[in-house]
Amino acid sequence: MIAPSLVSAAPSAPPQSAAPTLRFATPDDDQFVADLQELAFGPGRFARTAYRVRERFQIDPTLSLIAEVDGVRSGSVWMTPISIGGIDGWMLGPLATHPDFRKRGAGKMLAIEVTRIALERGTGSFVVLVGDRDYYCPLGWQPTTPGAIQWPGPVDPSRVLLFSDDKTLATRIKGPIAPFGAAQQA
Ligand SMILES: CC(C)(COP(=O)(O)OP(=O)(O)OC[C@H]1O[C@@H](n2cnc3c(N)ncnc32)[C@H](O)[C@@H]1OP(=O)(O)O)[C@@H](O)C(=O)NCCC(=O)NCCS
Repeated sequence: MIAPSLVSAAPSAPPQSAAPTLRFATPDDDQFVADLQELAFGPGRFARTAYRVRERFQIDPTLSLIAEVDGVRSGSVWMTPISIGGIDGWMLGPLATHPDFRKRGAGKMLAIEVTRIALERGTGSFVVLVGDRDYYCPLGWQPTTPGAIQWPGPVDPSRVLLFSDDKTLATRIKGPIAPFGAAQQA
């Protein structure tokens, strides 16, 4: 099912300044996404701590989105279901926009929309990521308490950011990254 607001930000924009549109990814997009992630993050992506999280806890492919500009694939985002301290949520990433299509709003649309769709499911309470404050905090992400979330590898604690409808959660949440559903299994 396609969420109602998963549409162009500016459907009437002329082609030369076409705004990105979003849709859910399909298996046909797998190669595009693999190539884009290689281009955006390089070979070092496999050493990133977020990659280790995705090795342990599979992404949810029903929360993978593709951005397009004039029908050309331009960006991608993934979500990984996790829990922290007995609270279920998701880790956002990788988020990437192809260099030919940057600064058109695709990255922010992808982050905002995938977060909205995930939280509307009602099964999780937060979306955490490791990223730049200047990019994500204006979108609603908040700094977390440094060191409170335990990752399976090194992270810069100042880049651990959390989005939640509960604006107290970012500074309260603590514990290791664990499987989604940990609260029910405890
Ligand atoms: C970061 C990225 C996804 C942004 O994609 P995008 O589609 O260009 O993003 P948007 O068009 O929504 O936003 C662009 C704006 O964000 C700014 N921006 C981009 N990356 C930024 C960053 N790391 N920190 C702060 N601002 C950033 C741009 O300068 C631009 O500003 P402007 O609107 O004032 O010109 C893209 O540059 C990319 O794929 N980078 C490589 C991979 C990466 O770093 N991913 C994010 C991991 S946390």
